[in-house]
Amino acid sequence: MIRAVIFDLDGVIVTTDEFHYQGWQRLADEEGIFFDRKINERLRGVSRLESLEIILEKAGRNYSKEEKTGMAERKNNYYRSLLHTLAPDDVFPGVKRMLKELKDTGIKIAIGSSSKNTPFILQKIGLEKTFDAVSDGNQIKRSKPDPEVFLLAASKLQIPPDQCLVVEDADAGVEAAINAGMKCLAVGSACVNPKAHLRANNLSEVSVEQIRNM
Ligand code: G6P
Ligand code: MG
Repeated sequence: MIRAVIFDLDGVIVTTDEFHYQGWQRLADEEGIFFDRKINERLRGVSRLESLEIILEKAGRNYSKEEKTGMAERKNNYYRSLLHTLAPDDVFPGVKRMLKELKDTGIKIAIGSSSKNTPFILQKIGLEKTFDAVSDGNQIKRSKPDPEVFLLAASKLQIPPDQCLVVEDADAGVEAAINAGMKCLAVGSACVNPKAHLRANNLSEVSVEQIRNM
């Protein structure tokens, strides 16, 4: 029986995955590096610096550590300026209903995100007090597919991993959930991932009853 649900943030709770894409596309264009939405799929769930390394696979030269730090910072500034437009309406369909129903049923809810911008985003969408625990990029050393971010969330909730369900839009996140010994519901971009235990386009297609009995 599932006693806790750990939600990824970008691309699961809120549409910020598109802003990540726009920030990286702007940086890549400025640097003259080829980048498109297909490459962007590989960045889902992956930390900022590891995302930059993936983008630099298409670069014509090597970049120093200082240059890389500067580029990651620049992308984050572009991203943060897009985040300023974020509002409670930008949460995905079915999210608020699902969070309320889980709470009403006594199932714990947490965030498990690689993003260091998690606290800011939760505040912008008015969900900063909603979750029983938040585990994010500021608290972990290894990003998905490593299970660290989800195991930290489970330990904060004091629920064993095999009673946790992860909701993910990233293939790296589905992998991380499985590595943590948790069940996984794949949505959005990951909705065809065969490794997930359940798949849906978004949370409005899933009932709490389905989750409980996974
Ligand atoms: C999430 C997103 C990734 C992003 C990472 C780090 O996992 O899916 O696309 O690179 O967080 O985000 P940050 O806000 O710290 O740059
Ligand atoms: Mg995501």
